[in-house]
Amino acid sequence: MFNTVFKSLTSAAISEVQNEYGIDDVSINWRRPQDKSHGDISTAIALQLAKEVGKSPRDIAEKICTALGKDESVDRCEVAGAGYVNIWLKPNALISELINTEQSCSKTPKRDEDPIVIEYSGPNIAKPLGIHHVLSTVIGQAVSNLHTHLGYNVITVNHFGDWGTQFGKLSVAFDKWAEKELSDHSIDDLLALYVRFHEEAEKDSSLDDVAREAFCKLEKGEKEITDFWKTVVEISLKAINELYDRLHVEIEYPHSESMYQDLMEPILKEGLKKNVFVEGDKGAVVVEFEEETGLSTAVVQKGDSATIYLTRDLAQIRYRIDTWHPKEINYVVDVAQSLHFKQLFKTVEMLGWELPNLDHILFGRMRFKDVEMSTRKGNILRLEQVLNEAVDRAGEKIKTHGDSIKTDNSDDLAEMMGVGSVVYGVLSQNRKMDMMFDWDKFLSFEGNSAPYLQYTHARTCSILRKSETDNIHFPNLTDETLETKERVLVGTLLQFSSALQDACDSKMPHVLANYLYQLCQDYNAFYNDLPILKAEGAMRDVRLALTSLTASVLKAGAKILTIRVPERM
Ligand code: ARG
Repeated sequence: MFNTVFKSLTSAAISEVQNEYGIDDVSINWRRPQDKSHGDISTAIALQLAKEVGKSPRDIAEKICTALGKDESVDRCEVAGAGYVNIWLKPNALISELINTEQSCSKTPKRDEDPIVIEYSGPNIAKPLGIHHVLSTVIGQAVSNLHTHLGYNVITVNHFGDWGTQFGKLSVAFDKWAEKELSDHSIDDLLALYVRFHEEAEKDSSLDDVAREAFCKLEKGEKEITDFWKTVVEISLKAINELYDRLHVEIEYPHSESMYQDLMEPILKEGLKKNVFVEGDKGAVVVEFEEETGLSTAVVQKGDSATIYLTRDLAQIRYRIDTWHPKEINYVVDVAQSLHFKQLFKTVEMLGWELPNLDHILFGRMRFKDVEMSTRKGNILRLEQVLNEAVDRAGEKIKTHGDSIKTDNSDDLAEMMGVGSVVYGVLSQNRKMDMMFDWDKFLSFEGNSAPYLQYTHARTCSILRKSETDNIHFPNLTDETLETKERVLVGTLLQFSSALQDACDSKMPHVLANYLYQLCQDYNAFYNDLPILKAEGAMRDVRLALTSLTASVLKAGAKILTIRVPERM
């Protein structure tokens, strides 16, 4: 924030320090004081220099203060506490900084640099998506949107679980119990077959052997089972893609585990040759890690030669490095897979591959406030059902708030609000902790929720419409002063670009969500306190321009979080 003002104040302060104390190498950090009564910006530079120049910090601060006081962007400058320099900027200087915020609302052009790969979602095929799948899916999409928005060269990729013994099980179940053509099966029918297999296998364990054999046939590429598998994948992808559309999720490369078939053999050979892979129990091939890693032995090939999850992950890394030469590969996956990723990353290091930065972007478990949701055993809680329920609940709210909610299309609004509330409910929580699914909180119009954000956006749009003003822009202020609520709003707007950068660097979408929530609160306080349409002259222009900029920031920020905001509500 404060790019332009910073430059001029920084150079004024530095030349003062140089002239007075002869120090060449000074760097100045500005921050925005927590306490609004400490000015717009502040620096602790005098405290840092005190020892070096052998003067009291307050003396140094006084000197800097006098020098900065002459800058035309400075309204007032004071020395506070042990030697802080607090600065109040002139309204014009503050407002002219908002150009940076305006720019931050649009995407930065893509930089010509090695890509960052972000893998997310990774559901297993032949089962409907469960509510927990929303976590990797939307956290991954938000992290990739953040990077794309800031101009990184991003490659998004999926890792569908479309390989493994479960396909053997499914094909056995289909042969034994299916009552219609495979292509007539829905994703739920497939799940029912799979569940039936497990029930029957409890009584008759020989079924497991038959299933393993079937999977071996699939690995060998036998036609009949391969055709079966292809159709199952098609049915599954259709169902999954419908949900991705509703969630505004777009993954560029819909890769899946089966894709890496031919890459595993050479890696197994390489590992054996390098003695990284050794023979384990019953003819299995394993990796043993050094004691200080604390990692348990990992299998890369089973005794019956079947490959496993880890083998396909080794191949996936090889493929991505060779194809894209990325500088980073990120995996947005459940914390429960931490050990797996540690073993995986250690193994590729032991293989001596030249590696990009590998990062497991983990997230916690989902817990449910609703007793019925949390105690549901066996049956998975389906994502589609949860989204439908969210939309129904949003629809009810729209009906009961009929007087205050104005919309042209209440079905669209309910979809936007319902889906948004679940997604925002997830993204507004620190992903490293367990997440609480709470209908009341998610759908509330008051708290840190999608409806509150959507409502605030609609409010800004309504004011802009009512203003009947075409060319809304910040005027040149001369004698006008800014009211406190206005100054606070300006300050929060100025922080948009640093909130984006922080959320992106830390790969934590909730940092952006919390920022947007703060902005909504500051805008609503401003709206409740000050006349906008009834203000006069330059102040009306300022307030309309602040309203318009708030609308742009909310819209751009929500979109990064995969959420849509209405113009009317
Ligand atoms: N399909 C996996 C699961 O459901 C998640 C995939 C994670 N990605 C990976 N490269 N292993 O557990």
